[in-house]
Amino acid sequence: GAPVEADISQLAPGEMMTVEWRGKPVWILRRTPEMIASLQKTDEKVSDPESEKPMQPPYAQNQHRSIKEEYLVTVGICTHLGCSPSEKFKMGAESGMSADWPGGFLCPCHGSLFDLAGRVYASMPAPDNLEVPPHMYLSDTTILVG
Ligand code: FES
Repeated sequence: GAPVEADISQLAPGEMMTVEWRGKPVWILRRTPEMIASLQKTDEKVSDPESEKPMQPPYAQNQHRSIKEEYLVTVGICTHLGCSPSEKFKMGAESGMSADWPGGFLCPCHGSLFDLAGRVYASMPAPDNLEVPPHMYLSDTTILVG
């Protein structure tokens, strides 16, 4: 599959866009400072906080799992059996979750929860964090995925 360019110039803080790469949805979430801070709270609830499992690019092996803290780039496919998690990235009740929901993603198939870095919560059916695809910044507003 060919690499795909994503223009993120119109992406507002707290919003998410999707591009298609190799037939898969790739989510690009522009995290607000509050969203970035929430990763501190979910750190202790996720099973692989630094993404130490070997199949991730080196720039995903940190708390925010990205090249730039502000942007999460991840494949929107559950690592359990391949369903598409619902976008629950708004924090609190706005997402339809509980008032103390720190933002993230919920897989409708078997209930796996992921945080705003795509890190899977402990004891979920999904074994791994969401995949961070190979990507790079061509400019401040263009990401090349693939
Ligand atoms: Fe997502 Fe099973 S496919 S939890």
